[in-house]
Amino acid sequence: MQRAQRLDKIPPYLFGEIARLRAKVAAEGVDLVNLSIGDPDQPTPQPIIDKLCEAANNPETHRYDESEAGWPEYLSAVAKWYKNRFGVDIDPDSEAMLLLGSKDGLAHICWAMIDPGDISLVPDPGYTVYKVNTMLAGGDTVAMPLLEANGFLPDLSAIPSDAAKSAKLMFLNYPNNPTGGVADLKFYGDVVKFAREYDIAVVSDIAYCDVTYDGYVAPSMLEIDGAKDVVIEMHSLSKSFNMTGWRIGFAVGNSDIVAALNKLKSNLDSRQFPAIDLAAAYALNNVTNEQTLALYKRRRDILVDGLNAIGWKLNKPVASLYVWARVPDGYTSADFAKMLLMEAGVLVIPGNGYGEYGEGYVRMSLTVADDVNGDRVTEAVKRISELNIKWS
Ligand SMILES: Cc1ncc(COP(=O)(O)O)c(C=O)c1O
Repeated sequence: MQRAQRLDKIPPYLFGEIARLRAKVAAEGVDLVNLSIGDPDQPTPQPIIDKLCEAANNPETHRYDESEAGWPEYLSAVAKWYKNRFGVDIDPDSEAMLLLGSKDGLAHICWAMIDPGDISLVPDPGYTVYKVNTMLAGGDTVAMPLLEANGFLPDLSAIPSDAAKSAKLMFLNYPNNPTGGVADLKFYGDVVKFAREYDIAVVSDIAYCDVTYDGYVAPSMLEIDGAKDVVIEMHSLSKSFNMTGWRIGFAVGNSDIVAALNKLKSNLDSRQFPAIDLAAAYALNNVTNEQTLALYKRRRDILVDGLNAIGWKLNKPVASLYVWARVPDGYTSADFAKMLLMEAGVLVIPGNGYGEYGEGYVRMSLTVADDVNGDRVTEAVKRISELNIKWS
């Protein structure tokens, strides 16, 4: 029996060695501080759970969702949220669709838009789903480097013109995983202009748009005039409302791109339990998650202030769940992550796992299991301090 050859296109698991060492360290009984995964450690706010229970008691939610693009009350709530949050009008009937989390949409948009030989422009470092699915669909990727010197924004003028001419998709993600970088409307305006000029569909991944600190408010690319000619934006409730396990998100924007993705997905899945859609509709327009955000901010401050006090030079991210830290001279990302794990019992992700331009960095997450009000992060800083790392 032979599996499909396309699976050979999936790059080797870059965290392989770290995963192996982590298992080893854990087996030795080391008390690990886990700053690796970006998965909210706090529970979903209770009013959302209550709404789910109420919706689950409605037998109408026990059957297939046979609507065109997602449970209508949910898509109306999405449109209302866009209007209130960004001042953007979305037609819930033609410009919005339900996703099983945003990863669903980000992966499947490649299958809806990419033919063999087509190109996607992808951020590097970046969420690996964009690249892997472009490759699985038979396409190729061209990296857009996200450099610290450029505020972790790609330099659109540096994209080779033959790549721009043949690209069908461009992926962008702000607030950014893994760098914590943010984009403003000026940049989004440049992107829309560029995409219209080269006839590229832009996929704007705003998974972290409501994980923000210090009063920062993240914009939507759809705020730009003419954006709906080229942009599909994807979001989910995962990070905003501690709902990663619920698998609920949405895509909005250009109606042709939405229709293409919906055509594909209507042949792949039958959506999820509609009670989840009703609870999510309620969450979007009625619930805030301030306590969790205050906790992330506290952890961010403990981590960044603590490490800067011993010579690191970190900026405080105003959004996302991540601190993106340059590694000391003489280390690769992987060496440094390995050293922190073996000598301090602190687990971080080596930046090269996110692409070539992630080399030289590690990612530390602010979602920390078993952390009570920053105590585990304080412990991580203490242990790292004791390593007496030399910074040149
Ligand atoms: C940049 C980015 N986009 C999208 C996702 C997918 O999240 P979900 O599928 O839970 O919406 C993640 C998850 O970590 C992410 O980091």
